[in-house]
Amino acid sequence: MTTAADPLREQVRSAIRDQPFRTRTVLSSLLSVQDSVGYLPEAAIDEVALATDATINEVWGVASFYPNFRFKPPADHTVEVCWGPTCHVLGAQRLLQDALAQLGLENEGETPDGRVGLKLNTCLGVCAHGPAMAFDHALVGRITPETARARVAAMRGGAA
Ligand code: FES
Repeated sequence: MTTAADPLREQVRSAIRDQPFRTRTVLSSLLSVQDSVGYLPEAAIDEVALATDATINEVWGVASFYPNFRFKPPADHTVEVCWGPTCHVLGAQRLLQDALAQLGLENEGETPDGRVGLKLNTCLGVCAHGPAMAFDHALVGRITPETARARVAAMRGGAA
């Protein structure tokens, strides 16, 4: 059982309480918690249930319905590979294969140590500067495989 001194639970409560909307729903509360905490910890489910007069099952039903909700902390760093048509033509396939190999992944996801998360993006919005990748949301256009490898290695905390 958690106590009032649990800082994560307090952050969850604040996220629910401080929503900018007049109407507080299960969905808006879950979104607010995920925005604040980065994921939905266990405390989010019962705190949202308490705040919205919903049952635990109802809150779980909403949380588990939407694939954008996550139930574990996000990776420390995020690497995004643009997979849009322009970047695809300009070499995204190689960038993706290199990143997957460096991170020991077979598809988008997170390294087992939680250090780096790899995502595919359908367009990072800089098509004229493709191929593009983003590292912790900082865009890099016209990225070369060498630069991409060095940036991924830096996020892993090692050499390319
Ligand atoms: S397709 Fe890659 S930035 Fe648009």
